[in-house]
Amino acid sequence: MKELDLDWSNLSFGYMKTDYNVRCYYRDGAWGEVEVSDSENISLHMAATCLHYGQEAFEGLKAFRGQDGKIRIFRLEANAERLQHTCDGIMMPQLPTEKFREMVLKVVKMNERFVPPYESGASLYIRPLLIGTGAQVGVHPADEYLFMIFVMPVGPYFKGGFSTNPYVVIRQYDRSAPLGTGIYKVGGNYAASMRANKMAHDLGYSCEFYLDAKEKKYIDECGAANFFGIKENTYVTPKSTSILPSITNKSLMQLAEDLGLKVERRQIPIEELDTFEEAGACGTAAVISPIERIDDLEMKRSYVIAKDGKPGPICRKLYDTLRGIQYGDIEDRHGWVTIVE
Ligand code: PLP
Ligand code: COI
Repeated sequence: MKELDLDWSNLSFGYMKTDYNVRCYYRDGAWGEVEVSDSENISLHMAATCLHYGQEAFEGLKAFRGQDGKIRIFRLEANAERLQHTCDGIMMPQLPTEKFREMVLKVVKMNERFVPPYESGASLYIRPLLIGTGAQVGVHPADEYLFMIFVMPVGPYFKGGFSTNPYVVIRQYDRSAPLGTGIYKVGGNYAASMRANKMAHDLGYSCEFYLDAKEKKYIDECGAANFFGIKENTYVTPKSTSILPSITNKSLMQLAEDLGLKVERRQIPIEELDTFEEAGACGTAAVISPIERIDDLEMKRSYVIAKDGKPGPICRKLYDTLRGIQYGDIEDRHGWVTIVE
């Protein structure tokens, strides 16, 4: 296998062509055999439901190369289950966890040379995608689907990796409705977030910060990442019907508990930001991005969380523990890691 000459430590979070992707078609009510492809293209019917009616879902997970050279995939079953939940949400056939596992392992193994070395701190991002390929013009679910997975080596999602970032509350646009599709990982939510995201970037912020769409009173999430705050030895994270159930957040809740913190999942009024000693945005791509401050421009308020501009000790401990488990430096007590054989 030819060695790659990549600047592993300076990768960004972006698309890169790798050697292979894997595909599986759903036809006549059943999933077919797994296929391997070296093409970046797919051929689609112009009336495919994914194109017109957004009948598509995606996932995001990562593989890490340990100091021992082994490749570890983080929480692949949890991602399979979330995809199944999304399938129910937008009327797509569920992909069985076993098929998901087989395809993730296969695509990682086949692109092994793209898994960044341990020392780089980078990882292999795994992007599963499920699309309605059957033709419909009426608004109905397709009768045919394509599930595929591609991978690429990535660096940090936010500039600077584990360092504090400023966020801005965007009140003009909602990414999802209270009983809408925010809890599912469907493309439409991300299309709906692009204006808010651009607005935040144009104003010089790392990312947009959403409040609940109904009352604009409670914290929802931070772009493509969940929110958590730390105070009085407690990990607090929003309970909301319009945010994605983040697998990173779920893992951090467990790790916080392991570290002796109390964990609360509840509505968080925006004003409560004043009381947090630390806060972070968390997700597969974001890992933990500690929050420096959150500006609410319309209300002319700035909630400064990291007063010295540095990540706090609990964020750091959670980050080190999570990364330690992912890279195999810390024992995987919760059975979150799948080793690629
Ligand atoms: N929230 C949104 C909107 C996301 O797109 C993501 C990314 O997947 C997350 C939160 C974090 O979820 P996870 O930790 O499962 O990656
Ligand atoms: C992830 O964290 O996996 C995501 O899906 C974020 C992505 C939208 C870039």
